[in-house]
Amino acid sequence: MLEGPDRVGKSTQVEHLAQLLTQRGMSVLVSREPGGDALGEAIRTMVFAPNLDPWTELFLFLAGRARHLDEVIEPALTHGELVLLDRYTPSTLVYQGAELGDEVVVQLCSLPVFRTPDLTIILDRELPLVELEASDRFESSGLTGWHERRSRYLSLSHRFGWPTVSGEGSQDEVALRLLEVLTSMGIIE
Ligand code: TYD
Repeated sequence: MLEGPDRVGKSTQVEHLAQLLTQRGMSVLVSREPGGDALGEAIRTMVFAPNLDPWTELFLFLAGRARHLDEVIEPALTHGELVLLDRYTPSTLVYQGAELGDEVVVQLCSLPVFRTPDLTIILDRELPLVELEASDRFESSGLTGWHERRSRYLSLSHRFGWPTVSGEGSQDEVALRLLEVLTSMGIIE
C-alpha cells in the first residue's frame, strides 16, 4: 500500500506499478481510500461535506474502510490478486490523529477488522510535485500544513517501521525504487 502526503505522486505511481506488475503476468487490483465500491464512494462524498465534526469524520473513514475491506480488498485477496492501495490507515493516523490525538486513532485503526497490509510504503518528497491548491478541506493550510503532514508521515514510518521511498526524480526512477522495495520485502520476485 502506498501512502504519503498529498501531491507526491502516489496515485500516478500506484497506476504505474500496477501496469508494470501486470506486464509481469501478475493479477493486480488498484483501489483507493476513501472509495472502493458504490457505498464507499457515497461515504467519500459524506466525508468531504463541510463542517463535519472530527469524530463523525473519523468514523466515516473507518466505516468506509470496513466496507472497502469487505467488498473489495478481501475478495480480491481471496482470488489471489495483489492489491495496491492508494491511502489506507496511515492517512487516518496523519489526518484524523492530528485533530483527535494519536493514541485513540491508533487504537481504533488497530481493531482486528482492519487488516494490516503486507507492506506499507511511504512516498516522500521534500516539496510537493505541483503547486498546492487545496482540493478539499483536508489539504488546506498551504505549504505549512503540507510540511506538518509530511513530518507526521515520517514519524509514523519511524514508529511502525514502514519503508520510505524518495519520490524525487522521474516517474521511472521512482517506480524502480518501489519495485526494489517490493522485491526486497518478498512481495514480488
Ligand atoms: P483524494 O481526493 O483521494 O486525494 P489524494 O490525491 O490526496 O489522495 O483525497 C482524499 C483525502 O482524504 C486526502 O486529503 C486525505 C483524506 N483522508 C483522511 O483524512 N483520512 C483517511 O483515513 C483517508 C483514507 C483519507
